Amino acid sequence: MNYFLSEQEEMVKNLFSEYVDKRIIPLRKELEEKHEFPREIFREMAQQDFFRIMVPEEYGGLNDSQLQLSLGIEQLARGDGGIAVSFAVDAIATNGIVLYGNEEQKKKYLPGIADGKIITAFGLSEPGAGSDAAAIKTKAVKKGNKYVLDGVKQFITNGEIADIALVIASTDPEKGYKGQTAFIVEKGTPGFSAGKREDKMGILSSVTNELLLDGCEVPGENILGQVGRGFYIALGLLDRSRIGIGAKALGIAQGALDEALKYAKTREQFGKPISSHQAIQLMLADMATQVEAARLLVYQAARTADSQEKKLTKISAMAKLFASDMAMKVTVDAVQVFGGYGYMKDYPVEKMMRDAKVTQIYEGTNQIQRMVIARQLFKDSG
Ligand code: CAA
Repeated sequence: MNYFLSEQEEMVKNLFSEYVDKRIIPLRKELEEKHEFPREIFREMAQQDFFRIMVPEEYGGLNDSQLQLSLGIEQLARGDGGIAVSFAVDAIATNGIVLYGNEEQKKKYLPGIADGKIITAFGLSEPGAGSDAAAIKTKAVKKGNKYVLDGVKQFITNGEIADIALVIASTDPEKGYKGQTAFIVEKGTPGFSAGKREDKMGILSSVTNELLLDGCEVPGENILGQVGRGFYIALGLLDRSRIGIGAKALGIAQGALDEALKYAKTREQFGKPISSHQAIQLMLADMATQVEAARLLVYQAARTADSQEKKLTKISAMAKLFASDMAMKVTVDAVQVFGGYGYMKDYPVEKMMRDAKVTQIYEGTNQIQRMVIARQLFKDSG
């Protein structure tokens, strides 16, 4: 299939793909069993210059293209959903600094991110504020030229490994979402720590934590954008990062389809490979068609982001929604193609099914995506 990728886009895709085949697929069972974030893999990915695709050239990056980022995330997810999400979430705060940071902030953080030496997290959700992101309770109170942050952030990917976190806090609770502000909080700041590590269903090679802010004093110069713009910044970033989750879901589904095809050609029942039974052929045909449809939508959303088109909200929500629902269906079907073996940990499809589930939940549940799409439909229709 020709996706009309440029030479550079093909190169990025191939680099990630070769690395995944060589390093991640052979290791993924071990990573899954260890239930630890694989620092060594991130170090190798840095040596491969993978993190540079998140950062513009003038700060040590390669390009800062949403399509190239999506191609990279898709390939990583084909190998392992946990590594893919750790990488994808690193791009959220990075994008925040690229899009909303001032020159000092860009110079301070972006070269380290490009080198893979600074890992980032995004702290929006709270125990009482998931889908309703406007309801956050974390406070930031001005004290001289600093802000004192107090609160708890919940379900934070990369929480315990992040060197900086982009934290959304309320500087003026009476103003609701118009009183929220984005802060860059550095690891080692007194009062800032990672709390409980979550015990998850899938994406086991990624870490998910609470982030605790307890009298944490952050200098005023660490405000990203302007005071009162935090909610808008968070939603603007989600418009981009949801494309990454779509790419992640797409990669998981492609991985499951590849495994199902391989298995169907070798597994024999009724005296012949199950690939020659029409029941299996029809399933595989549906799976492949859904993967391709999702790929076209994800790439189109990424290209829309790269074209600087302002209207990104609807297409990015559609890409995330469609690709994640598709990934859930395709991975369940892949388990079905494997039959009893699919349910066993000896084969990777049960892991892919568990890894796919969360793509329907994080970065906005698919119910929220449908709400976002519907609101935009009515807005666009006048
Ligand atoms: N970009 C910028 N601004 C936006 C926006 C967007 N995409 N969408 C809306 N806004 C603005 C609106 O224009 C409005 O501004 P004004 O009042 O100034 O005109 C303001 O934001 C409020 O908009 P709404 O009335 O639509 O807000 P709402 O509270 O009704 O709904 C929501 C917002 C879409 C439901 C939002 O809360 C949302 O997306 N919720 C899901 C949260 C989410 O995705 N969390 C993910 C956590 S991160 C994560 O999961 C990472 C990980 O670890 C994998």
